[in-house]
This record gives sequence, C-alpha cells and structure tokens, in this order.
Amino acid sequence: MKQPINGFSKLPKEEKINWLATHYFTNKEEGITILKSYWNSDKKLQQLHDEFIENTITNFYLPQGIAPNFLINGSLLSIPMAIEESSVVAAASNAAKFWLTRGGFHAEVRSTIKIGQVHFIFNGSKSVLSSFFNEKKAIFLKESEPITRNMQKRGGGILDIELIDKTDQMSGYYQLHCSFETLDAMGANFINSCLEQFAKTLKKEALSYPLFNDKEKNIEVIMSILSNYVPECLVKVWVECPVEKLFNDSEKSLDFARRFVTAVNIAKIEPYRAVTHNKGIMNGIDAVVIATGNDFRAIEAGVHAYASKNGRYKSLSHAEITNGIFKFSMELPLALGTVGGLTKLHPLVQLNLDMLGNPGAKQLMKIVAVAGLAQNFAALRSLTTSGIQEGHMKMHLGNILNQLEATSEERKQVETHFSSNTITHSAVTDFINQLRNN
Ligand code: MEV
Repeated sequence: MKQPINGFSKLPKEEKINWLATHYFTNKEEGITILKSYWNSDKKLQQLHDEFIENTITNFYLPQGIAPNFLINGSLLSIPMAIEESSVVAAASNAAKFWLTRGGFHAEVRSTIKIGQVHFIFNGSKSVLSSFFNEKKAIFLKESEPITRNMQKRGGGILDIELIDKTDQMSGYYQLHCSFETLDAMGANFINSCLEQFAKTLKKEALSYPLFNDKEKNIEVIMSILSNYVPECLVKVWVECPVEKLFNDSEKSLDFARRFVTAVNIAKIEPYRAVTHNKGIMNGIDAVVIATGNDFRAIEAGVHAYASKNGRYKSLSHAEITNGIFKFSMELPLALGTVGGLTKLHPLVQLNLDMLGNPGAKQLMKIVAVAGLAQNFAALRSLTTSGIQEGHMKMHLGNILNQLEATSEERKQVETHFSSNTITHSAVTDFINQLRNN
C-alpha cells in the first residue's frame, strides 16, 4: 500500500529520487539511471536548473532547432525554436525561404497595454463607492510609487485605474481595472505587486471614509491578479506578393492562392477547423516563446481568448487576393518580455536572445508572431496541395527508425524503399522485419 509522505520538499535530491523509485518505479535501478542520465555534468548549471522549481529530480529536454533565412522588416534573422514535434522547424524554414525572395515578412506592434484587476465585494451604495474612488484615485497612485518608480523612470508604469461595476453579474462584485505599460518586461511581478498595493490602499482608505457606513467600510478584496487576456498588446504580421510571383506557373499560382484563401476562410467559420488551424500557428509561436524564456501558458491562454473575442472561436489569420496581390496576415496579442524572469537566469535563453540581436519586447513580439504566421503558411501550403502526411511522415521516419534501432544499412534500404511508398509506422516496421528475417 502506498503511503503519503510529509516533508518531501525538504529531502535532498538523491533521497527524493530514492523514495520515488522505491514506491513508484517498476524497475527502480533502471528508472534512477534514466533520471540521472539527464543530469548536466556541469554541476553549477545543474544547480541552476534544480533551483528553477521545487522538487527537481532531473531535466526534461526539448530539442532546440534553428529556422534560418527569416527576412523580417528587411533584417535577416535565424530563429531559435524549442519543440518536440518533428516537422515544425522544417516547415518554418521552408516558409522563411519561400518568402525570402518575395519581400519577406512585415511586422508592426499596434499597442503594448497590459491589464490587471483587483476583484472585490462591496455591499452598499454604488454612488458613494464611485465618489470614494474618484476622491482616492491619486492615493492609489501615490502609495504604489515605491513599486513604480523605476519603471516610471524608464517610461512605463501605471496607465490608468478604473472602477468597474459588475453587480449586474454578481451581487456586490466590483473591480479596480488597471492598465500598465511594462516596456521590455513581461511585467507579471510588477503588475501583481501594484495590484496588491492597490488592494491594501482600497481596504485602508475605505475603513476611514466618513461617507461609508460600517458595512461599507469593510470592503472584501477577493483577489488581485494580472490578466493574461491582453487584447491591447497587439502585433500585426503579414506577407504579400503579386499572385503570379507565388510560383513560376501562373495557373498553379492562381489555383494555390484561391485554395489557400478558401482554407483560411473555412477556419473563420468552422470552429473544429479553426482550433487546428490556430494550433498550427501556436506550433511556431510556442517554440520561440520557450526558446526565449517566456511563459507559453500565458501566451496560449491570451491568444485563444483573443481568437474567440467576438463570441465564436475562429482563425487568427486572414488571407485575401486584392487587385492581383496575395496577402496573408495575422494580428494577435503577445505579452512578452526580454528582461527579468528566465531571460537573465538561463544561459541558453540568453544566447537565443543574443542570436536574435538582443531584441526589446516589441521586436520579440514581431519575431514570435512571424514564426506563427510562417508555420500557418507552411501548414496550409501542404494541406491544400500534397496533404500534410507526406512531409510529416518523412520527418517522423527518423523517430520510427530510432524506435526500431535500425542500423545504418537498414536505414539506407528504408530510405530507398519509402521514397516511392507511403510511410506508415506499420509499413516501416514490416519492412525492417522483412529485412531482418532475410
Ligand atoms: C500539426 O501540428 C499542425 C497542423 O494540424 C496545423 C493545421 O492543420 O493547420 C498541421
């Protein structure tokens, strides 16, 4: 019978592993060897990773690839991508190469406003609460100055605080809805610290406000937290060229453009397709977000919420043919940082930012969004022409061969055979078994 454990987090790493292996591994020694094989031999580097989180027992590796040849607003970049899915880096690289000779990618940041809220319950007169807020607004700003001073010096800080009445949806529910400019920081710590200070000021000032009765003086703060929905932290990216420049053959070009636009339009009206369409975009986005030490869960949450901002989930990207010009574009929210958090702590993240030219947050927003658009272009290009499986399975073949522990002679024969036959897991397994039986 398994027993719960107390004080697990206090145990040294070796003891944590030993306990885990004793109680939860089928093969204790083998399991421990696997865990340790992922430890870094550089003890300092390993310690750095151990301390990122609680109860670290090993590292979970993702491969990092590079997608070169990205022309973005006239500058050539090689983009680092950390991802396990076999075809993503190849697809991004293909799209980069395709657009390299057709004007490259264009990108512009539309806005960089971030949001946080203090959610509270106030049971009393709305108009008195509103007067209280208007009278005290300057105190909220003043009392948060120790937190905002540095950010303000650099040109950022609190943009506004609004009182929002939500009582039509929940009895007594109000918010301080606050907007921030956090410059090159993702800003989560800054925003949350400001919000927690606002909450303190709110409670304190309410207690001594003479126009509140005793019940009104006791404002109940439920929580203070930033929002990962950032519809005003937007970047727009696009590619465009005359339709006849898409391919050498003008009929093929027109047919491609027409089918491509139709595919995007399907993802605008059909949620089942839109989710997969946007997943393809996130293949590119997450890979760069991870490689640059940003929070991919925050990005995912914000992007998918934005995709349903009008009440129905739909494609983030748009495609059109206007006056003979094919244009493929996307606007999406990305709250990213290039200072603070992992960006300074993780040597590989630092190197990745260095290879991108040490971008500020706005430049990183452009790069990440371009990777998403490139990925979407590559996916739609295959889907509307050869189908996705041809490329996918070619990339996946290596994984299957590794799984089967194929020798280099077997690999050669597999490559020859499957250059003209459909790759499936079972077809490759059968083929290898046949070779081995002969
Ligand atoms: C696979 O990871 C992503 C795609 O399904 C995206 C799409 O269908 O557009 C290929």
